[in-house]
Amino acid sequence: MQTIGVIGSGLMGNGIAHVAALAGYDVILSDVEMSRAEAARSTITKNLARMVGKGTATQDAADAALARLTLTTDNAAHEAADLVIEAATENESVKAKIFQSLTLQPHTLLATNTSSIGITRLASTTDRADKFCGLHFFNPVPLMALVEIIPGLATSADTTAAMHAFATRLGKTAIEAADSPAFIVNRILCPMLNEAIFALGEGVGSVVDIDTGLKLGANHPMGPLTLADFVGLDTLLSIMRVMQDGTGDPKYRPAPLLVRYVEAGWLGRKSGRGFYDYTGPEPVPTR
Ligand code: 3HC
Repeated sequence: MQTIGVIGSGLMGNGIAHVAALAGYDVILSDVEMSRAEAARSTITKNLARMVGKGTATQDAADAALARLTLTTDNAAHEAADLVIEAATENESVKAKIFQSLTLQPHTLLATNTSSIGITRLASTTDRADKFCGLHFFNPVPLMALVEIIPGLATSADTTAAMHAFATRLGKTAIEAADSPAFIVNRILCPMLNEAIFALGEGVGSVVDIDTGLKLGANHPMGPLTLADFVGLDTLLSIMRVMQDGTGDPKYRPAPLLVRYVEAGWLGRKSGRGFYDYTGPEPVPTR
């Protein structure tokens, strides 16, 4: 494997392109608009500089990684790839349309970074269910050590093994999860974030007290409300709904306050407001 295609240059896509280029792969990063792909390159440049500053990458390695990155708006460019990773919007029909637009070489593997959509179902919209796999990264991708590998019903053992080898070359630790709603990490993490929002809505504690409680009382690097804002409240809501719909179990019902925030367009960091206001120099709690 030498060339990796990444489809979608948002938060996850640019992180995946970053770590793949840094690991020595040639990377083709595509998005629907060149301005978005260019913005992703700026983000990758900034994040590589952070790593150089922290001493976790050399300047030469960062420069070489950027030189291995090609931007495009043309999905036909992925014909050159040995592995294509889809990291587009978390929407099943958008993903299916992307898969159908690709012309890939016979040997090329296809992966999706979906955080919750069924892998077997997505595989059935491609022309290569045996070469298709879930490959779920965590935000921020350059810093988070984990990758979840989720084989679908038709994924071959060779494809799963190739995903493990790829994750290892990226310097990540891989775990394997069954194709079950939200897989392993989000299945356990998202109900905890949702519960923090229930607690806030019920007046059990303030934003700061809930976050401080879990940071200092459970040694979490970020409080749950900070992390919910970081992940995106719309993403969290969609994962809770996938779990609720996929299992039929009411224990996964989204917190009413989470639903209201998303309806208000308060999506967390990316919209400038969630449980904190991000429009000033420092985040300010909103409740
Ligand atoms: N590349 C990208 N982002 C970087 C970076 C790099 N090289 N270096 C730092 N950052 C980002 C951080 O996200 C944060 O953003 P900001 O500056 O824009 O506010 C900032 O830089 C923090 O930098 P620090 O140097 O202070 O980083 P820390 O060493 O304190 O670690 C952290 C930050 C690793 C994010 C830590 O707080 C942490 O582990 N938080 C929990 C993250 C987590 O749980 N992620 C999983 C979310 S679930 C998920 O992704 C699944 C999905 O499907 C929903």
